[in-house]
Amino acid sequence: LSTSTAVRSAIKHVTVIGGGLMGSGIAQVAAATGHDVIMVDQTDDILAKSKAAIQKSLGRVAKKKYADDGEAQASFVGEVMSRISTNTDAVAACGKTDLVVEAIVENLDVKRRLFTALDAAAEEHTIFASNTSSLPIKDIASATKRQDRFGGLHFFNPVPMMKLVEVVKIPETSNETFERLVNLGKAMEKTTVECKDTPGFIVNRLLVPYMMEAVRMLERGDASARDIDTAMKLGAGYPMGPFELADYVGLDTTKFIMDGWSQKYPDIEIFRKSDLLNKLVAEGKFGRKTGEGFYKYDKK
Ligand code: 3HC
Repeated sequence: LSTSTAVRSAIKHVTVIGGGLMGSGIAQVAAATGHDVIMVDQTDDILAKSKAAIQKSLGRVAKKKYADDGEAQASFVGEVMSRISTNTDAVAACGKTDLVVEAIVENLDVKRRLFTALDAAAEEHTIFASNTSSLPIKDIASATKRQDRFGGLHFFNPVPMMKLVEVVKIPETSNETFERLVNLGKAMEKTTVECKDTPGFIVNRLLVPYMMEAVRMLERGDASARDIDTAMKLGAGYPMGPFELADYVGLDTTKFIMDGWSQKYPDIEIFRKSDLLNKLVAEGKFGRKTGEGFYKYDKK
Protein backbone atom coordinates (compact mmCIF):
# COMPACT_ATOMS: atom_id res chain seq x y z
CA LEU A 1 0.00 0.00 0.00
CA SER A 2 1.30 3.47 -0.85
CA THR A 3 1.00 6.00 1.94
CA SER A 4 -1.73 7.89 0.13
CA THR A 5 -3.83 4.73 -0.32
CA ALA A 6 -3.31 3.85 3.33
CA VAL A 7 -4.42 7.30 4.39
CA ARG A 8 -7.40 7.24 2.10
CA SER A 9 -8.50 3.85 3.38
CA ALA A 10 -8.10 4.71 7.06
CA ILE A 11 -11.34 4.48 8.99
CA LYS A 12 -12.40 7.94 10.14
CA HIS A 13 -16.11 7.62 10.69
CA VAL A 14 -17.57 4.81 12.78
CA THR A 15 -21.22 3.87 13.28
CA VAL A 16 -21.84 1.78 16.38
CA ILE A 17 -25.14 -0.10 16.51
CA GLY A 18 -26.14 -0.76 20.12
CA GLY A 19 -25.70 1.56 23.08
CA GLY A 20 -25.30 -1.09 25.77
CA LEU A 21 -22.18 -1.77 27.84
CA MET A 22 -20.10 -2.80 24.82
CA GLY A 23 -21.55 -0.43 22.22
CA SER A 24 -21.17 2.64 24.40
CA GLY A 25 -17.62 1.58 25.34
CA ILE A 26 -16.67 1.16 21.68
CA ALA A 27 -18.26 4.52 20.78
CA GLN A 28 -16.40 6.19 23.64
CA VAL A 29 -12.97 4.87 22.72
CA ALA A 30 -13.46 5.50 19.00
CA ALA A 31 -14.39 9.12 19.75
CA ALA A 32 -11.61 9.55 22.30
CA THR A 33 -9.09 8.51 19.64
CA GLY A 34 -10.32 11.09 17.15
CA HIS A 35 -12.98 9.24 15.15
CA ASP A 36 -16.38 10.70 14.36
CA VAL A 37 -18.99 8.40 15.81
CA ILE A 38 -22.71 7.81 15.43
CA MET A 39 -24.19 5.61 18.16
CA VAL A 40 -27.49 3.92 17.38
CA ASP A 41 -30.07 2.36 19.66
CA GLN A 42 -33.83 1.89 19.65
CA THR A 43 -34.95 4.93 21.63
CA ASP A 44 -33.66 8.39 22.52
CA ASP A 45 -34.12 7.44 26.14
CA ILE A 46 -31.67 4.52 25.87
CA LEU A 47 -29.25 6.72 23.94
CA ALA A 48 -29.40 9.41 26.61
CA LYS A 49 -28.47 6.79 29.22
CA SER A 50 -25.64 5.50 27.04
CA LYS A 51 -24.29 9.04 26.63
CA ALA A 52 -24.48 9.61 30.39
CA ALA A 53 -22.50 6.38 30.96
CA ILE A 54 -19.90 7.49 28.42
CA GLN A 55 -19.63 10.90 30.06
CA LYS A 56 -19.08 9.28 33.46
CA SER A 57 -16.44 6.91 32.15
CA LEU A 58 -14.69 9.75 30.29
CA GLY A 59 -14.63 11.64 33.57
CA ARG A 60 -12.62 8.78 35.11
CA VAL A 61 -10.26 8.71 32.14
CA ALA A 62 -9.87 12.51 32.25
CA LYS A 63 -9.00 12.45 35.95
CA LYS A 64 -6.06 10.21 35.20
CA LYS A 65 -5.01 12.10 32.08
CA TYR A 66 -5.20 15.60 33.53
CA ALA A 67 -4.72 15.17 37.25
CA ASP A 68 -5.48 18.34 39.23
CA ASP A 69 -6.53 20.29 36.12
CA GLY A 70 -10.31 20.50 36.23
CA GLU A 71 -10.48 22.75 33.18
CA ALA A 72 -8.45 20.39 31.00
CA GLN A 73 -10.56 17.47 32.23
CA ALA A 74 -13.81 19.23 31.33
CA SER A 75 -12.54 20.28 27.93
CA PHE A 76 -11.35 16.72 27.13
CA VAL A 77 -14.74 15.27 28.08
CA GLY A 78 -16.57 17.97 26.11
CA GLU A 79 -14.43 17.50 23.03
CA VAL A 80 -14.85 13.71 22.98
CA MET A 81 -18.61 13.98 23.60
CA SER A 82 -18.90 16.42 20.71
CA ARG A 83 -17.62 13.73 18.33
CA ILE A 84 -20.48 11.37 19.28
CA SER A 85 -23.87 11.88 17.71
CA THR A 86 -26.85 9.57 18.14
CA ASN A 87 -29.58 8.21 15.93
CA THR A 88 -32.47 5.79 16.41
CA ASP A 89 -32.45 4.81 12.73
CA ALA A 90 -29.63 2.36 11.96
CA VAL A 91 -30.17 2.50 8.21
CA ALA A 92 -29.96 6.30 8.12
CA ALA A 93 -26.90 6.24 10.37
CA CYS A 94 -24.87 3.96 8.11
CA GLY A 95 -25.32 5.85 4.84
CA LYS A 96 -22.03 7.71 5.06
CA THR A 97 -19.67 5.81 7.28
CA ASP A 98 -16.40 3.89 6.91
CA LEU A 99 -17.25 1.19 9.42
CA VAL A 100 -20.34 -0.23 11.08
CA VAL A 101 -19.68 -2.04 14.36
CA GLU A 102 -22.66 -4.03 15.57
CA ALA A 103 -22.99 -4.63 19.32
CA ILE A 104 -26.65 -5.59 19.73
CA VAL A 105 -28.35 -8.59 21.34
CA GLU A 106 -26.68 -12.00 20.81
CA ASN A 107 -29.38 -13.26 18.50
CA LEU A 108 -28.40 -14.49 15.06
CA ASP A 109 -31.69 -13.70 13.31
CA VAL A 110 -31.83 -10.18 14.69
CA LYS A 111 -28.22 -9.52 13.66
CA ARG A 112 -28.78 -10.97 10.18
CA ARG A 113 -31.89 -8.86 9.64
CA LEU A 114 -30.04 -5.74 10.72
CA PHE A 115 -27.08 -6.35 8.41
CA THR A 116 -29.27 -7.17 5.41
CA ALA A 117 -30.98 -3.81 5.84
CA LEU A 118 -27.69 -1.96 6.31
CA ASP A 119 -26.11 -3.68 3.31
CA ALA A 120 -28.61 -2.07 0.99
CA ALA A 121 -28.01 1.41 2.42
CA ALA A 122 -24.27 1.58 3.10
CA GLU A 123 -21.66 2.81 0.62
CA GLU A 124 -19.52 0.29 -1.26
CA HIS A 125 -16.36 0.99 0.75
CA THR A 126 -18.07 0.61 4.14
CA ILE A 127 -16.81 -2.29 6.23
CA PHE A 128 -19.18 -4.21 8.47
CA ALA A 129 -18.03 -5.77 11.72
CA SER A 130 -19.74 -7.60 14.53
CA ASN A 131 -18.72 -7.48 18.18
CA THR A 132 -20.45 -10.82 18.80
CA SER A 133 -18.89 -12.80 21.62
CA SER A 134 -20.04 -16.24 20.59
CA LEU A 135 -21.87 -16.40 17.27
CA PRO A 136 -20.02 -17.39 14.08
CA ILE A 137 -19.10 -14.28 12.06
CA LYS A 138 -19.72 -16.30 8.88
CA ASP A 139 -23.38 -16.87 9.85
CA ILE A 140 -23.88 -13.12 10.31
CA ALA A 141 -21.85 -12.03 7.27
CA SER A 142 -23.77 -14.32 4.92
CA ALA A 143 -26.80 -12.07 5.36
CA THR A 144 -24.95 -9.48 3.24
CA LYS A 145 -23.44 -9.20 -0.22
CA ARG A 146 -20.20 -7.79 1.21
CA GLN A 147 -18.59 -10.77 2.91
CA ASP A 148 -15.20 -9.55 1.64
CA ARG A 149 -15.78 -6.38 3.65
CA PHE A 150 -16.96 -8.19 6.78
CA GLY A 151 -15.08 -9.26 9.88
CA GLY A 152 -15.27 -9.63 13.62
CA LEU A 153 -14.11 -6.86 15.93
CA HIS A 154 -14.38 -8.16 19.46
CA PHE A 155 -13.79 -5.78 22.36
CA PHE A 156 -13.71 -6.49 26.10
CA ASN A 157 -15.54 -4.99 29.01
CA PRO A 158 -14.73 -2.33 30.23
CA VAL A 159 -13.72 -1.20 26.73
CA PRO A 160 -11.84 1.92 27.89
CA MET A 161 -9.58 -0.19 30.16
CA MET A 162 -9.10 -3.50 28.34
CA LYS A 163 -6.27 -3.21 25.87
CA LEU A 164 -7.21 -6.04 23.50
CA VAL A 165 -9.27 -6.31 20.34
CA GLU A 166 -9.72 -9.64 18.60
CA VAL A 167 -9.91 -9.17 14.83
CA VAL A 168 -11.75 -12.10 13.30
CA LYS A 169 -11.31 -13.20 9.72
CA ILE A 170 -13.69 -15.38 7.78
CA PRO A 171 -12.35 -17.00 4.61
CA GLU A 172 -14.14 -14.32 2.56
CA THR A 173 -12.65 -11.34 4.46
CA SER A 174 -10.28 -9.57 2.08
CA ASN A 175 -6.74 -8.77 3.16
CA GLU A 176 -7.49 -5.07 2.74
CA THR A 177 -10.51 -5.30 5.03
CA PHE A 178 -8.54 -7.23 7.62
CA GLU A 179 -5.73 -4.69 7.46
CA ARG A 180 -8.14 -1.78 7.86
CA LEU A 181 -9.71 -3.43 10.91
CA VAL A 182 -6.31 -4.07 12.46
CA ASN A 183 -5.31 -0.46 11.76
CA LEU A 184 -8.50 0.77 13.37
CA GLY A 185 -7.74 -1.34 16.47
CA LYS A 186 -4.30 0.27 16.62
CA ALA A 187 -5.75 3.74 16.04
CA MET A 188 -8.04 3.03 19.01
CA GLU A 189 -4.84 2.37 21.00
CA LYS A 190 -5.55 -1.33 21.43
CA THR A 191 -3.39 -4.37 20.80
CA THR A 192 -4.92 -6.63 18.16
CA VAL A 193 -4.76 -10.39 17.76
CA GLU A 194 -5.82 -12.29 14.66
CA CYS A 195 -8.51 -14.90 15.23
CA LYS A 196 -10.21 -17.51 13.13
CA ASP A 197 -13.97 -17.75 13.23
CA THR A 198 -14.04 -20.41 15.96
CA PRO A 199 -16.47 -20.44 18.96
CA GLY A 200 -15.44 -17.75 21.45
CA PHE A 201 -12.40 -16.80 19.33
CA ILE A 202 -9.42 -16.80 21.74
CA VAL A 203 -10.46 -15.09 24.95
CA ASN A 204 -14.02 -16.32 25.48
CA ARG A 205 -13.11 -19.85 24.37
CA LEU A 206 -10.84 -19.99 27.41
CA LEU A 207 -12.52 -17.56 29.79
CA VAL A 208 -16.16 -18.72 29.60
CA PRO A 209 -15.46 -22.43 30.27
CA TYR A 210 -13.20 -21.30 33.15
CA MET A 211 -16.04 -19.24 34.67
CA MET A 212 -18.47 -22.12 34.16
CA GLU A 213 -16.10 -24.60 35.79
CA ALA A 214 -16.03 -22.29 38.84
CA VAL A 215 -19.85 -22.34 38.88
CA ARG A 216 -19.78 -26.16 38.77
CA MET A 217 -17.30 -26.19 41.64
CA LEU A 218 -19.74 -24.09 43.64
CA GLU A 219 -22.67 -26.33 42.63
CA ARG A 220 -20.76 -29.38 43.89
CA GLY A 221 -20.07 -27.59 47.18
CA ASP A 222 -16.31 -27.89 46.74
CA ALA A 223 -15.67 -24.31 47.87
CA SER A 224 -17.51 -21.03 48.45
CA ALA A 225 -17.75 -18.35 45.75
CA ARG A 226 -15.70 -15.97 47.92
CA ASP A 227 -12.93 -18.52 48.42
CA ILE A 228 -12.82 -19.46 44.74
CA ASP A 229 -12.55 -15.73 43.86
CA THR A 230 -9.87 -15.13 46.48
CA ALA A 231 -7.97 -18.20 45.30
CA MET A 232 -7.88 -17.13 41.65
CA LYS A 233 -6.98 -13.52 42.48
CA LEU A 234 -4.18 -14.33 44.91
CA GLY A 235 -3.10 -17.70 43.56
CA ALA A 236 -3.27 -16.99 39.83
CA GLY A 237 -3.05 -13.19 39.63
CA TYR A 238 -6.45 -12.58 38.03
CA PRO A 239 -7.77 -9.03 38.63
CA MET A 240 -11.21 -10.45 39.41
CA GLY A 241 -12.24 -13.93 40.53
CA PRO A 242 -14.55 -15.96 38.24
CA PHE A 243 -17.75 -15.00 40.12
CA GLU A 244 -16.87 -11.33 40.29
CA LEU A 245 -16.11 -11.49 36.59
CA ALA A 246 -19.34 -13.33 35.72
CA ASP A 247 -21.32 -10.70 37.65
CA TYR A 248 -19.35 -7.98 35.87
CA VAL A 249 -19.85 -9.40 32.36
CA GLY A 250 -23.51 -10.15 33.17
CA LEU A 251 -25.02 -13.56 33.94
CA ASP A 252 -27.56 -13.04 31.14
CA THR A 253 -24.72 -12.60 28.64
CA THR A 254 -22.87 -15.61 30.05
CA LYS A 255 -26.04 -17.70 29.79
CA PHE A 256 -26.63 -16.56 26.19
CA ILE A 257 -23.15 -17.75 25.26
CA MET A 258 -23.53 -21.07 27.10
CA ASP A 259 -27.00 -21.78 25.66
CA GLY A 260 -25.74 -21.24 22.14
CA TRP A 261 -22.67 -23.38 22.58
CA SER A 262 -24.33 -26.24 24.46
CA GLN A 263 -26.98 -26.43 21.75
CA LYS A 264 -24.52 -26.29 18.89
CA TYR A 265 -21.83 -28.49 20.41
CA PRO A 266 -23.69 -30.94 22.69
CA ASP A 267 -20.70 -33.30 22.90
CA ILE A 268 -18.24 -30.77 24.28
CA GLU A 269 -18.24 -31.27 28.06
CA ILE A 270 -17.01 -27.78 29.00
CA PHE A 271 -19.89 -26.18 27.06
CA ARG A 272 -22.48 -27.87 29.29
CA LYS A 273 -25.18 -25.63 30.82
CA SER A 274 -25.37 -24.95 34.55
CA ASP A 275 -28.56 -25.17 36.65
CA LEU A 276 -27.31 -22.56 39.08
CA LEU A 277 -26.58 -20.03 36.35
CA ASN A 278 -29.96 -20.68 34.73
CA LYS A 279 -31.72 -20.26 38.09
CA LEU A 280 -30.06 -16.90 38.84
CA VAL A 281 -30.95 -15.58 35.40
CA ALA A 282 -34.56 -16.82 35.74
CA GLU A 283 -34.75 -14.84 38.98
CA GLY A 284 -33.60 -11.70 37.18
CA LYS A 285 -30.22 -11.77 38.92
CA PHE A 286 -27.96 -10.69 36.08
CA GLY A 287 -25.02 -9.52 38.17
CA ARG A 288 -23.85 -5.98 38.84
CA LYS A 289 -26.27 -4.33 36.47
CA THR A 290 -29.34 -5.62 38.36
CA GLY A 291 -27.80 -5.29 41.82
CA GLU A 292 -27.46 -9.03 42.37
CA GLY A 293 -25.84 -12.06 40.78
CA PHE A 294 -23.55 -14.38 42.67
CA TYR A 295 -23.04 -11.38 44.97
CA LYS A 296 -25.19 -8.44 46.04
CA TYR A 297 -24.28 -4.90 45.01
CA ASP A 298 -25.34 -1.44 46.05
CA LYS A 299 -27.61 -0.13 43.35
CA LYS A 300 -26.34 3.24 42.17
N1 3HC B 1 -14.19 3.58 32.41
C1 3HC B 1 -13.06 4.27 32.68
N2 3HC B 1 -12.18 3.88 33.62
C2 3HC B 1 -12.44 2.76 34.30
C3 3HC B 1 -13.60 1.98 34.05
C4 3HC B 1 -14.49 2.44 33.05
N3 3HC B 1 -15.60 1.77 32.74
N4 3HC B 1 -13.59 0.91 34.87
C5 3HC B 1 -12.48 1.01 35.61
N5 3HC B 1 -11.77 2.12 35.27
C6 3HC B 1 -10.51 2.57 35.82
C7 3HC B 1 -10.66 3.25 37.13
O1 3HC B 1 -10.88 4.63 36.98
C8 3HC B 1 -9.33 2.97 37.82
O2 3HC B 1 -8.38 3.94 37.48
P1 3HC B 1 -7.16 4.26 38.49
O3 3HC B 1 -6.41 2.99 38.67
O4 3HC B 1 -6.36 5.29 37.80
O5 3HC B 1 -7.83 4.74 39.72
C9 3HC B 1 -8.88 1.65 37.21
O6 3HC B 1 -9.69 1.43 36.08
C10 3HC B 1 -9.04 0.53 38.20
O7 3HC B 1 -10.41 0.45 38.59
P2 3HC B 1 -10.89 0.03 40.02
O8 3HC B 1 -9.90 0.51 41.04
O9 3HC B 1 -12.31 0.45 40.16
O10 3HC B 1 -10.94 -1.55 40.02
P3 3HC B 1 -9.88 -2.62 39.50
O11 3HC B 1 -8.50 -2.27 39.88
O12 3HC B 1 -10.44 -3.94 39.90
O13 3HC B 1 -9.96 -2.53 37.92
C11 3HC B 1 -10.92 -3.59 36.05
C12 3HC B 1 -11.15 -2.70 37.26
C13 3HC B 1 -10.04 -2.86 35.03
C14 3HC B 1 -12.28 -3.84 35.46
C15 3HC B 1 -10.20 -4.92 36.50
O14 3HC B 1 -10.86 -5.46 37.60
C16 3HC B 1 -10.17 -5.97 35.43
O15 3HC B 1 -9.33 -5.93 34.55
N6 3HC B 1 -11.08 -6.99 35.51
C17 3HC B 1 -11.20 -8.05 34.55
C18 3HC B 1 -12.07 -7.61 33.42
C19 3HC B 1 -12.16 -8.64 32.34
O16 3HC B 1 -11.63 -9.74 32.41
N7 3HC B 1 -12.86 -8.29 31.26
C20 3HC B 1 -13.11 -9.16 30.18
C21 3HC B 1 -14.44 -9.78 30.35
S1 3HC B 1 -14.86 -10.85 29.00
C22 3HC B 1 -15.54 -9.84 27.85
O17 3HC B 1 -15.71 -8.67 28.03
C23 3HC B 1 -15.94 -10.51 26.58
C24 3HC B 1 -17.41 -10.50 26.34
O18 3HC B 1 -17.63 -10.96 25.04
C25 3HC B 1 -18.19 -11.37 27.31
